[in-house]
Amino acid sequence: MDKFFISGGQQLQGEVRISGAKNAALAIIPAVLLSDDACRIENVPNITDVRAMIRILRDMGANVRWMNRSTLLVDPCPLGTYVASDELAGQMRGSYYLMGAMLGRCHHAVVPMPGGCNFGVRPIDLHLKGFSALGASYSLEGGMVNVSATELHGSSIYLDVVSVGATINIMLAAVKADGMTVIENAAKEPHIVDLANFLNSMGADIRGAGTDVIKVHGVEHLHGVTYSIIPDQIEAGTYMVAGAATHGDVTVTNVIPKHLESIMAKLEEMGLEITEFDEAVRVRYAGKLNKCNIKTMPHPGFPTDMQPQITTLLSIANGTSIVNESVWDNRFRYVDELKRMGAQISVNGKLAVVEGVDHLTAAPVKATDLRAGAAMIIAALAAQGTTEISQIRNIERGYENVVEKLQKIGADIRRVTVQKDEEAQAV
Ligand code: UD1
Repeated sequence: MDKFFISGGQQLQGEVRISGAKNAALAIIPAVLLSDDACRIENVPNITDVRAMIRILRDMGANVRWMNRSTLLVDPCPLGTYVASDELAGQMRGSYYLMGAMLGRCHHAVVPMPGGCNFGVRPIDLHLKGFSALGASYSLEGGMVNVSATELHGSSIYLDVVSVGATINIMLAAVKADGMTVIENAAKEPHIVDLANFLNSMGADIRGAGTDVIKVHGVEHLHGVTYSIIPDQIEAGTYMVAGAATHGDVTVTNVIPKHLESIMAKLEEMGLEITEFDEAVRVRYAGKLNKCNIKTMPHPGFPTDMQPQITTLLSIANGTSIVNESVWDNRFRYVDELKRMGAQISVNGKLAVVEGVDHLTAAPVKATDLRAGAAMIIAALAAQGTTEISQIRNIERGYENVVEKLQKIGADIRRVTVQKDEEAQAV
């Protein structure tokens, strides 16, 4: 029941080393199940979502162990079941990649419906449409998705909506299918390219990842490799915005600047000074924070996973900005928390009108989800007074060593263990 206490007003200054990408790791670790041998995965972020994925794989019999702080050895050979029964799998969205990976490995997967999801809110209909096109059938029973196939054959699949998860799951299921699979209107996110590079390094034949048509020629076997995961674009963007919100000067290192283009473009439009290096990006406050309109879009558009953070920055910019969330239906829930700190934001469906205020003021707030939690941290760093953030487990799902990284660049942030009684009283 820990909380973060953040005393705002310190200008963040210095370098932050960015960890491996959460969403790439959550696809690549289960993808090892398709290999005949063990794989060594480097630059793995040690975050709770990744630790949950490791526990699920261990429960299924795989041998998974940390070789050092960020390198995992994953040996799929001892795997003894196609059922991911651990309740952890039901809590995390990324566990749905076990469907594609297990289907590709042994033509059968039984996986809980991913966390908090149903067909209305966070659907998986396109994943299932893809599996069906490859020759699988599925049923939903007792909260579990049961997908199986006698054999998998290549097919042409058009995604009605650009979906990261469906693109990845179809790639995983198709990589050892018989013949060629074509995914049209595929997602183009950097972690899709990373997964394709990983699978290709194991002997797969995938072309076009990073464009909206991906072609997967099925192969019989994949072999073990050593592979390093790309840096986390969203973690980098979060520290860039945190630096801007505190009028600071922050350099994110170990990044691929190309993946940060849409974020850099918007920060530049707001008046920040951006300097791009080979593997680093510096964001420096240059005396102003201008209003700016944002529309979230699939890659290479502005990422929805940066929307709460940039909206927080806009809440202390000069003038009125419009934020259009075009990917998810209900991604402004955190705005109520920001308003408790003095933000002036009105939400109407997928649109938020953000009227910049002079400053935010500390208040007790909740990290209602992962990126909402990142937004609360940014607000607290910029606010006057000491903000208390609860439900920080949501933040630790996706940010490695967030307290240490922020302290290193000058933030006054503490993690405090709160007695359960106290927490209950606070609710
Ligand atoms: C992934 C990311 C998440 C990010 C999102 C969009 C992981 C673990 N999570 O989620 O952080 O916010 O990409 O960049 O990588 N859709 C359908 N049918 C489907 C699947 C999706 O209609 O079968 C719709 C969704 O409702 C949503 C849109 O497609 O409106 C995009 O969702 P998708 O790209 O699939 O998101 P996730 O893969 O779940």
